[in-house]
Amino acid sequence: MKDIYYFDNASTSFPKAPGVAEAMARCLAEVVGSVGRGSHTGAYAAASRTLEIREALCRFFGAPAARNVVLTPGCTYALNLVLKGLLRPGDRAAASVMEHNAVLRPLRQLERRGVETVRLPCGPDGLLDLEQAEALLTPGLRLCVLTHVSNVCGALQPIEAVGRLCRERGIFFCVDAAQSAGPVPLNMGALGIDALALPAHKSLLGPQGLGALLLTDALAGALEPLVAGGTGSQSDLLDMPPFLPDRFEAGTLNLPGIYGLGAALDWWAAQDAAALRRREQKLTGHLLARLRELEPDGLRVLGPLDPERQIGVVAVDFPGLDNAEAAFRLDRDFHIQTRCGLHCAPLAHQTLGTFPQGAVRFSVGPFTPFEDIDYLQAAVCELMGV
Ligand SMILES: Cc1ncc(COP(=O)(O)O)c(C=O)c1O
Repeated sequence: MKDIYYFDNASTSFPKAPGVAEAMARCLAEVVGSVGRGSHTGAYAAASRTLEIREALCRFFGAPAARNVVLTPGCTYALNLVLKGLLRPGDRAAASVMEHNAVLRPLRQLERRGVETVRLPCGPDGLLDLEQAEALLTPGLRLCVLTHVSNVCGALQPIEAVGRLCRERGIFFCVDAAQSAGPVPLNMGALGIDALALPAHKSLLGPQGLGALLLTDALAGALEPLVAGGTGSQSDLLDMPPFLPDRFEAGTLNLPGIYGLGAALDWWAAQDAAALRRREQKLTGHLLARLRELEPDGLRVLGPLDPERQIGVVAVDFPGLDNAEAAFRLDRDFHIQTRCGLHCAPLAHQTLGTFPQGAVRFSVGPFTPFEDIDYLQAAVCELMGV
């Protein structure tokens, strides 16, 4: 038995991309100064590396320009920035029932301030009901926010079709790419996305505590900053600077995180992205097949159950065994790391029929060996007594 059979990549990826830890340590040990906060070569070098990372994100995700890449303390912050920066009392916004609490909770706060929300329904497999979405995304809505991939069951939403609807109807379109940014091809321009929120620490294989919000100029022009403070630019102004990205980046940036993300993006740039996606789909197919062998014994496997319509995030509901106990025993007895419960997505579990008991989630990453999935299945069999 190994020490670690890591099936919790949807929480945070592990291991990180080669070079990430070293880049972060190097930043702390060797980089002298902070972006925009020093009149010396160390601060200029940090600013120049930060710009390279904005450029890399811009290329990776098809943002309009490097200045449209706002660095944030995480994906949650990026989503709050869009929702709270844009929506005003009387506005209407649509969001699917598969959203994470990073969307649902700010929306609830906004509802209390007079914003109306429209819920886009999904089927019992977690996939968006496009027909209903088409009927509900009416002109006059200010924003549609959609998670690209469900963090509970991996369902890959049809963002291209939703982007087209939003464009036709003059609705800003925000995509929560927390689970998809990395292995799934994503191009803002081609998909009609106005705001793309992502964390560094999940599929991009970077560190925690850093994210990005990629914005079109049109949406950026409509957003109020969420937090105000020093930017190191236009210090004569008592207002936030009018230009990107400074307008939305108050306070000292997370430089070790930025260097770590830079190393992760360098790793991604050196990979054959299509081959990685193919491997991920094969891995997902293998995980689904092995788990579904236990369906006749009562294991409920959730989601689309199709590697073409999901990524490698699969949740199961154990028969006759508390899911929290199952996760505990997988960790204690088999060194298998998973996550049980409601995964910060209560409406998703209602949709999948696993509320309030929740489920146990298995999520793979680019470094998951195929044989670990066979080991996982054997452990699940032992728990189920089959
Ligand atoms: C779908 C989804 N959205 C948003 C988030 C929030 O990301 P973070 O906690 O990194 O800000 C997560 C994290 O699990 C997620 O899975």
